[in-house]
Amino acid sequence: MQPKSKILVIDDEEVVLDSCTQVLAVGDCQVTTTNNGAHGLKLVGEIQPDLIFLDLKMPGLSGFEVLGRIREQFPLMVVIVITGYATVSSATEAMKKGAFDFLPKPFTPEELRLITQRGLEHSRLVQQAVALQREKEILRENFAAIVSHELKAPLGAIQQNLYALTEELAGQLSDDQKDRLTRLKTRLDDLLKLVHSWLRVFSVDINKLKETFQPVAVADVVAKAVDTVQPHALRKAIEIASSVADPLPRVNGDEGSLIEVLVNLLGNAVKYSFPNNTVRVHAEAQSPQVRISVTDTGVGVAKEDLPHLFQDFGRGQAQPAGVAGCGLGLAISRRIVEVHGGAVAVESEPGRGSTFTILLPAMPSAPEANTTPERKV
Ligand SMILES: Nc1ncnc2c1ncn2[C@@H]1O[C@H](COP(=O)(O)OP(=O)(O)OP(=O)(O)O)[C@@H](O)[C@H]1O
Ligand SMILES: [Mg+2]
Repeated sequence: MQPKSKILVIDDEEVVLDSCTQVLAVGDCQVTTTNNGAHGLKLVGEIQPDLIFLDLKMPGLSGFEVLGRIREQFPLMVVIVITGYATVSSATEAMKKGAFDFLPKPFTPEELRLITQRGLEHSRLVQQAVALQREKEILRENFAAIVSHELKAPLGAIQQNLYALTEELAGQLSDDQKDRLTRLKTRLDDLLKLVHSWLRVFSVDINKLKETFQPVAVADVVAKAVDTVQPHALRKAIEIASSVADPLPRVNGDEGSLIEVLVNLLGNAVKYSFPNNTVRVHAEAQSPQVRISVTDTGVGVAKEDLPHLFQDFGRGQAQPAGVAGCGLGLAISRRIVEVHGGAVAVESEPGRGSTFTILLPAMPSAPEANTTPERKV
């Protein structure tokens, strides 16, 4: 069953209210009336009518004032003004101010029915247009998520087959063919990483992490993240020095995601450092939080770039040659840290290096035993 069309009549003349109710409150219309403008405005907000009849000449809040406020608060609402014969010019004025049409007094039931039909039809079209626009916006907002999701499975299948094929053909390939296959795998890995990042940024999954939070040992997070980034560091002859205070409170969270954050920060530190340098990662208690910092002596970030780094696709203006990236790592990291009730910050000096700091709420329970003592990698 179609919902009833909601009509609100605001007029100080009881006789107009009565006749509108009699003529319109039949069939699929639900009519609400009021004889004063201020109350009418309140009702507009409460019942969100499909169509409003508004008398221009009322004591107290005038019809023009009511119309103005309706336009401000509900710009798409359809308003028909009711006017006396002598005030047709003000009706035209009202239409300039956004009224859909006007109904001169006195009016016959037939005139009222006809203009109501037109008003409701217009209102229906406006609502349809709004719904369509909203649908388009939702599609646009989710476009990247949908595309990434659809790409993930076929790319994963291609990757698996490529790996299997490489093994099957081992021994039969020339050095050049092996080289090309390796490049193919690297490009595919990069593509899958990108799709994974997009999904992380655009999907609401990050909030779901909270459901599986458990006590996490920060020393383990640091050790696992360092292990992941180490091969990249070695390629640039960069040393990763890690130090974790012992004892150190645990944090309540998702270990995999916290490792992902630290891999992003360490990965950046290596990526934006010069060869033969040291990247330092340090974790300590800073009651009531745990503080993890990653410091490098690399290219640094210009002051004007700092506010954008943690935004989606935010990249510094001066990118060192040959450094690739899509500006999502820090955005994802910020989201993950914030879901953990923490914060991430950066201090940097161009040409001298940067320190990225994560603060996470410490768990009040017994401190973790440090499973990885201070070490150099
Ligand atoms: N340690 C760092 N030193 C200097 N600049 C950095 C550092 N970490 C991040 N940046 C700057 O912040 C930007 C955003 O970093 P982010 O990790 O989000 O993206 P990315 O590294 O460019 O790409 P990806 O999405 O692959 O990580 C980088 O492009 C770079 O300009
Ligand atoms: Mg990065």
